[in-house]
Amino acid sequence: MHLVIIVGSHRTGSESSRVGSFVAATVGRIDPATTVDTIDLAANPLPLWDESVWQPDGALASLWKPFRDRLRAADAFVVVTPEWAGTVPPALKNLLLLAGPKEVGHKPGLIVAVSSGRGGSYPVSELRTGGTKNNRLLWIPEQVLVQDVGDMLRGDTPAGERDDWIRRRIEFALRILLAYGSALQPIRRSGLTDHPDFPYGM
Ligand SMILES: Cc1cc2nc3c(=O)[nH]c(=O)nc-3n(C[C@H](O)[C@H](O)[C@H](O)COP(=O)(O)O)c2cc1C
Repeated sequence: MHLVIIVGSHRTGSESSRVGSFVAATVGRIDPATTVDTIDLAANPLPLWDESVWQPDGALASLWKPFRDRLRAADAFVVVTPEWAGTVPPALKNLLLLAGPKEVGHKPGLIVAVSSGRGGSYPVSELRTGGTKNNRLLWIPEQVLVQDVGDMLRGDTPAGERDDWIRRRIEFALRILLAYGSALQPIRRSGLTDHPDFPYGM
């Protein structure tokens, strides 16, 4: 099993990045056989989508290729997104626009939303509504909201009841994600999912 964690904040030193590291450490503890790669969108490594991504020697195509290859290697994703002005950061939306079915199609994804206060539900709702029609990324039914993130997931021992609860919730959701990761491999191999008549999810 190969897990790719996508950190959607494009701030350097973001809390989402710290949460992504906690998720990686948790996976290492509960399933050491799973390999983990983290794609952190800090400092905007990818420009906004344009047509040059479709041209073999296009400027965006060569920038995109290493990201594309890392996404293609995944069996499952954790997408860590902050809530910014009630929405998902543009860099994360851009990544979902760049990623097609070969990268993320019929692979399970766990949404982990991050807020310094009591937010996080808007990005969950937004990701569940849009961004996956064409690329066929599959969000699993569980999600995690890390609210009051500044007080959470610091150090090895929980700082209190809510910190303990969120750690247990992350582990619970990750175990389910990894089970989906195994369960969906045969579906991708079946050949059922690629049909030239229906590339656009409608
Ligand atoms: C541009 C911007 C807008 C924000 N808007 C919200 C918001 O709508 N709701 C919320 O709960 N937190 C909001 N925050 C605070 C984030 O929850 C906080 O920065 C948190 O650390 C997660 O973001 P990070 O991963 O970039 O650190 C915002 C932060 C930024 C930088």
